[in-house]
Amino acid sequence: MSLPSQQQALFLATKEGKWIVSSIALHKPCVGEILVRVEAAALNPVDWKIRDFGMSDTDHHVILGCDCAGVVVELGEGVTNVAVGDSVLHQAEFDIRRGAFQQYAIASADLVAKIPPNLTFDQAATIPVAMAAAAVGLYGRKVTMGGAALLPPWRKDGFGKYAGEPIVIVGGATSVGQCVIQLAKISGFSPIITTASPHNTDFLKSLGATHIIDRSADIPATLKTITTSPITLILDVIAQPETQNWTYSVLAKGGTLIVFETITLEKTVVGKVARTPWAFLHDGPNRELGVELMESLTSYLATDAIKPNAVEVLPNGLASIPIGLERIRSGQVSAKKLVVHPQETPTPPPSP
Ligand SMILES: NC(=O)c1ccc[n+]([C@@H]2O[C@H](COP(=O)([O-])OP(=O)(O)OC[C@H]3O[C@@H](n4cnc5c(N)ncnc54)[C@H](OP(=O)(O)O)[C@@H]3O)[C@@H](O)[C@H]2O)c1
Repeated sequence: MSLPSQQQALFLATKEGKWIVSSIALHKPCVGEILVRVEAAALNPVDWKIRDFGMSDTDHHVILGCDCAGVVVELGEGVTNVAVGDSVLHQAEFDIRRGAFQQYAIASADLVAKIPPNLTFDQAATIPVAMAAAAVGLYGRKVTMGGAALLPPWRKDGFGKYAGEPIVIVGGATSVGQCVIQLAKISGFSPIITTASPHNTDFLKSLGATHIIDRSADIPATLKTITTSPITLILDVIAQPETQNWTYSVLAKGGTLIVFETITLEKTVVGKVARTPWAFLHDGPNRELGVELMESLTSYLATDAIKPNAVEVLPNGLASIPIGLERIRSGQVSAKKLVVHPQETPTPPPSP
């Protein structure tokens, strides 16, 4: 396969600085790595948070973007699980070589999943980060950046293991919430209770939620009308101080609250755990889980056990990402993912 020597990439020029589309040389895959031509990259809240909160590790140019779907175009030494021409999805990393906001990105071969034929690249790009967050929150180990340590459904005796146990998910229409609902269904939880805007009720039921509470209702009071069983697992994807407070108060003793952002609880009590997962599969405590998840994901997607998020494709490839991130930041995106096609990025005019 003949490849160009240069590509377009969206750089964050300094920590809290400007977004710039510019040319960069193609990267070379090292041992265990592959080069992916990025056909679709999805936008995530973390992309604007890194810029607005100055969270980048470096003050130099960095390439963000962590949801990637594309075609394998080159293999590094030792890679046998995928071939050139395969369609894959993966969680990208914030790095010049690995960020998804470029036309060709490096990935670790053992942390990609093949895209089944029933999914488009756009749909596939909605999956990696949200699924990683949901999986770490539910099945990650009981450690910092881990989760509730449930038995994953892909391991022996894991499928349907939690039948009859209630689970509460705050923010079911978020990308992460949609994945939590679907994994909770595969794990057997019942009832699966979530909060959302009323217009998302039918959609969330189609994913497996059994009860949808209007996000503006008195949620603790409504919960009591749905189940009298002790609620020992709550995942708060919204993670505002207000949602953390009510979820922690309704959590039963011995229970776990998974909060997908910084924990702001003022008081905690013995016997109720609150933990923030970190959806990063590449190293740390979640790598082994990440490899297993990627091995199972293709068949979950092929059988519709896991469905992708709805998609809105933005025009002009990488150039539209700053506008899309602003829409996410200001809460203008409901129950869908914004996706760009990096290959459709207009080539900037040559400098005079
Ligand atoms: N810890 C990690 O590793 C990790 C990983 C990924 C994401 N996150 C975090 O998880 C959060 C969600 O990310 P995402 O990409 O899944 O979000 P998203 O898809 O952009 O979320 C949009 C949805 O938020 C819902 N929402 C907003 N306020 C709500 C409320 N008070 N109650 C219920 N639903 C509400 C809206 O639902 P309706 O349309 O129904 O109103 C909307 O559809 C972000 O803060 C993100 O930074 C953390």
